[in-house]
Amino acid sequence: MPSNEPKQFPNLDAVTNPIDLFRQWMDEAKRTEINDPNAMALATCTLDGRPSVRIVLLKRFDEHAFCFYTNGESRKGTELRANHHAALALHWKSLQRQVRVEGPIRELPPEDVDAYFRRRHRSSQIGAWASHQSRPLRTREELIARTQEFEAKFPGEVPRPPYWTGFAVQPESIELWQERDFRLHDRVLFHATPNGQWTPQRLYP
Ligand SMILES: Cc1cc2nc3c(=O)[nH]c(=O)nc-3n(C[C@H](O)[C@H](O)[C@H](O)COP(=O)(O)O)c2cc1C
Repeated sequence: MPSNEPKQFPNLDAVTNPIDLFRQWMDEAKRTEINDPNAMALATCTLDGRPSVRIVLLKRFDEHAFCFYTNGESRKGTELRANHHAALALHWKSLQRQVRVEGPIRELPPEDVDAYFRRRHRSSQIGAWASHQSRPLRTREELIARTQEFEAKFPGEVPRPPYWTGFAVQPESIELWQERDFRLHDRVLFHATPNGQWTPQRLYP
């Protein structure tokens, strides 16, 4: 007999809009994950086809955009500006669920990035100035010295660094994955259609 089945299974056959179920899963994950339920793997690709991946935080999502913020001159920023496609994966261990999102990316408008940057903690704002994200750093002391330098430079409001930016992945496909016993997991892959609908396709696990 199955032993470790979660108590409730979503009926993936009844799902017509994956965003609605994603929102529900995210709300559940906020209650059950120890921290960072919005942490997601972001895969980018160089122009010569080499993939790279790291974790970022999903800050906002809807049918058109899964948004995150970062340094535009970082490795990921450089790769995204050269190759406008990305893939995302979220894994909620507590719920035994995975979601994959793929699509083209666009950079968020400056007003959006400004608004987000203003809401960040002052120390994070200073950190954004202090960090040449992804580039070599000789010593930790150098990083600390740079934070002190920018603390002194911006005693009041901290402006957004010109390279600090945000990206949106436009979801062309979304796969919802629910763990089931004996590796007989549920997988449904949704493709966005031009008229704003979604076509579901079950996949073998
Ligand atoms: C839980 C978690 C959340 C993170 N969130 C972000 C984020 O939202 N933006 C960001 O630039 N880096 C974030 N990072 C750091 C990135 O994983 C990565 O180290 C950094 O962005 C440099 O990546 P790159 O060199 O590939 O550009 C996060 C790391 C973790 C573990």
